[in-house]
Amino acid sequence: MKIIRKAAGMRSFSESERRKGKRIAFVPTMGYLHEGHLSLLRRARKIGDTTVMSIFINPLQFGPGEDFKRYPRAMKRDLMLAKREGCHAVFIPGSGEMYPAGEKTRVEVPGLSDVLCGKTRKGHFVGVTTVVAKLLNAVNPHFLILGRKDVQQAVIIERMVKDLRFAAKVVVCPTVREKGGLALSSRNKYLSEREKSDARVLFRALSLGKRLVRDGEKSARVIKANMKRLIGRYQSIDLEYVSIVHPKSLEEIRTIKGDAIIALAARVRKARLIDNVLARPKR
Ligand code: PAF
Repeated sequence: MKIIRKAAGMRSFSESERRKGKRIAFVPTMGYLHEGHLSLLRRARKIGDTTVMSIFINPLQFGPGEDFKRYPRAMKRDLMLAKREGCHAVFIPGSGEMYPAGEKTRVEVPGLSDVLCGKTRKGHFVGVTTVVAKLLNAVNPHFLILGRKDVQQAVIIERMVKDLRFAAKVVVCPTVREKGGLALSSRNKYLSEREKSDARVLFRALSLGKRLVRDGEKSARVIKANMKRLIGRYQSIDLEYVSIVHPKSLEEIRTIKGDAIIALAARVRKARLIDNVLARPKR
């Protein structure tokens, strides 16, 4: 497994793979890998010939007071896991490589970036789209593999890839969950066992919302009220939002007529957690 630290090195590796007729599948990460990331690497191996993963904790997507400094890191373990999953190359640029002195350009997808998590995490998605654009330029993959847990991120990146005519096909993979339903996230590391057990209510609430939609409830207000009541039983959980939105436009839905994303964000002490499900009325 190759370790590549420079964008130019990454590009020449990709060019040489492409010359050999290999299809490159790329999984961008911020490291501290868990089963969710590994499922993305497995998908990459399945659909591509050459798997590339990046590890870069992107300072630009963290706001002031967020957890950039304490974001969990485990480089040695990550590399061991990536190798075990058959990854061919890991791109590990430093901050100076991604944001050299004097660079100024930002990539923004307005609208989609301002709703849901974008309301409280100002500038977060500009950080995400800017770094993903830079990573795509370096890796030049055939496939870009993302997780559905970060559904807003996936929708925004799909839009950016389309608008900027990147050649990569975006592949969005299912959320991987612990036994009790808690979505896997590197930030679960911040939770105690007790907090983890409390946090499972988030998926129970999403499942309740999904059930209500399936059983014919059309009012988003009623569904959200039921979910909030359930989450409200847990003092340790500070709910930031529950929203029901259109899967592509991310516009808030009031009356449910077709597929909808039910998404939420909550703070459980030091951890800000997000999760979502796709809800479908029975036809
Ligand atoms: O989902 C993440 O880990 C990050 O937002 C990403 C896509 C690697 C960009 O830094």
